[in-house]
Amino acid sequence: MMVHLPRKKSSLRALAAASFLFIAAAFLVSPVFAAEVPTTVTNIFRPLSIPAQAIREVSFLVLAICAGIFLVVGGLLAYTVVRFRQRPGDDGREPPQIYGSNQLEFAWTVIPIVTVFVLFLATARTIYDVQGAIPPADALNVTVVGHQWWWEIRYPELGIVTANEMHVPVSESSKRRPTFLKLESADVAHSFWVPQLAGKTDVIPNRENRMWIEPLQPGTYVGNCAEYCGMQHAHMLLRVIVHPAEDFEKWAMAQRQPPVDDPQARAGRDLFFSTSCINCHTVRGTQAAGTFGPDLTHLMSRETLGAGTVPNTAEKLRDWVRDPQTIKEGCNMPDMQLTDTQLNQIVAYLLTLK
Ligand code: CUA
Repeated sequence: MMVHLPRKKSSLRALAAASFLFIAAAFLVSPVFAAEVPTTVTNIFRPLSIPAQAIREVSFLVLAICAGIFLVVGGLLAYTVVRFRQRPGDDGREPPQIYGSNQLEFAWTVIPIVTVFVLFLATARTIYDVQGAIPPADALNVTVVGHQWWWEIRYPELGIVTANEMHVPVSESSKRRPTFLKLESADVAHSFWVPQLAGKTDVIPNRENRMWIEPLQPGTYVGNCAEYCGMQHAHMLLRVIVHPAEDFEKWAMAQRQPPVDDPQARAGRDLFFSTSCINCHTVRGTQAAGTFGPDLTHLMSRETLGAGTVPNTAEKLRDWVRDPQTIKEGCNMPDMQLTDTQLNQIVAYLLTLK
């Protein structure tokens, strides 16, 4: 049985197709990619680091070629659908069938091969440029260890260990200062991704992956774990704080200081060291030398708790120590069953770890 679509509907469809094409084209040429500041929302279109910019260039090339193909194919399809649609009074016979056109077959074989070859070469060159980069002598080296569900960040040459917030110097054209990362996992597969700084790199148990960043603007860059790694995968956030060179030295100097030992917080300190806190956490230079949880030596220098789950304030810290499971269900830190007095003492001690 023949179904005749009313003409109005087909012109509506043509209109819808045309507006979609227009929006796609407008998106591709729009200037939304111009701003030059780190964003608090991750944005792959505003790279502010050398490897991320190289990736953007190749992705724009791929997008442009694919958009061209889409426009040609979509345009021809739309033209054909409209021009050769069924009309009242058609005789119902098939149109003439054409076989064996060498020119046509040659064209639709060679054009795609050339296109794929161009895409392949451009991509291979970018991969080679990014992965083959050789660290200069004064590059900063950082080891990042993925844990369920937080990031351990170690600076082997500086003797600093921190968590979830990586501080690095900015790279300037007069003095380039890239940061080379070694990525390791303590448990399952994670993925390190700070979109404005570089592409994703998987963090795999029993394997050492490498990547580098070279941020060109000071600021805070946000990122996250990009590989599903269990219940709190979504709360495995990352911050990369990029400092001007002298500020980075100041930060590193402060982090190298031994932990504060405030006599006012002695009760909490003694309690902390008599509980199983010390099996999982390190406070440098003390008997607290656990490595399952984040290093607490300079806990209060960090902006968030629970890898970006809540801001690191006195109030949230108290909630966290009272029962981490209410803030980050499933995390490996248990409810320590502290009394209110004990809780206050331990929090008072932790607050001194600046
Ligand atoms: Cu770690 Cu997802």
